[in-house]
Amino acid sequence: MELFHDKEDMRKWSRAMKRAGKKIAFVPTMGSLHAGHLHLVERAKLEADVVVVSIYVNPSQFAPNEDFGSYPRDLRGDLDKLQPFCVDAVFNPYDLYVRDAGQNDSELSERKASSQQKAVNEGADDTRDLTSKRQRYTHEHETWIRVEKLELPLCGKSRPGFFRGVATVVTKFFHIVEPDVAIFGKKDYQQWRLVCRMVRDLDFDIKIIGCELIREEDGLAMSSRNTYLSSAERLQALSISRSLKKVKEAVLNGTLDASSLVELVKQEIIHASGIVDYIEICERDSLQPLQFINCPAVICIAAWFARVRLIDNLELEPP
Ligand code: PAJ
Repeated sequence: MELFHDKEDMRKWSRAMKRAGKKIAFVPTMGSLHAGHLHLVERAKLEADVVVVSIYVNPSQFAPNEDFGSYPRDLRGDLDKLQPFCVDAVFNPYDLYVRDAGQNDSELSERKASSQQKAVNEGADDTRDLTSKRQRYTHEHETWIRVEKLELPLCGKSRPGFFRGVATVVTKFFHIVEPDVAIFGKKDYQQWRLVCRMVRDLDFDIKIIGCELIREEDGLAMSSRNTYLSSAERLQALSISRSLKKVKEAVLNGTLDASSLVELVKQEIIHASGIVDYIEICERDSLQPLQFINCPAVICIAAWFARVRLIDNLELEPP
């Protein structure tokens, strides 16, 4: 497994793979990997000859009041988790936004010199994730990708600028890794739809695959942020997946009006001391709100449990 910190090295490797006739699948992540991420990796392996996973806590998708600094980082642990999957390359850029600023940072420059291009199993020991150092450079970046309508609803309302950061970093990764296929999880439903739309609108020659949402045994949607939950909060958070089960049953039993279904979820979450950010039933492609489930739909939820904001969703079929 190769570990690249430098975008030019990453790009060179990808181009060499292409020249050798290899198809490249790409799984972008922010690390702190769990079984949901690893499921994407397994899918990637089925889709291509070589797999690249990026691990990068992207500063441009965090608002100043959000958890960029405290987002869980464990590069060594992540590499260990990826090893059994025979991932071909991991891209953990130090300086994705402003290359020159990174080069002036002596600590980073030294590390880059000592660890560049060493395969992990050849003993590269610099596996500390230094991306938390990067935030201060994003203000020098001035070119952004916006998916104008899809970035507005749901998470876009409560996290302004979030999807601009996601679309831009995904574009940068696509240009550096040059994959044939990229794998995203439906856990972040709006993100997946937005990337599909961006790829279509901007003619990226990349196939986007959406993978099913992976849950813990008790139903909680897997998320790197679940580690923030105390055991009591984690129990309360189960109200989200419990409410989704109820919605599924209600739809099967003929309840198709969105407001009744939304109310059902709301009561379950409030009863468990959660604070609802949004609960909406939407059309699956445009994510425009639906009043009735008369086409393939998705119910999307965001709720706070103490200081932890969780998202979840479920695709719903009309009868
Ligand atoms: P991150 O939250 O690390 O997620 C990386 C990928 O894993 C995303 O495609 C996400 O949808 C998927 N994923 C996370 N939890 C999942 C689960 N329980 N089941 C299935 N898939 C799951 O999403 C991001 O990082 C970032 O926004 C990124 C795309 C990397 C851009 O910075």
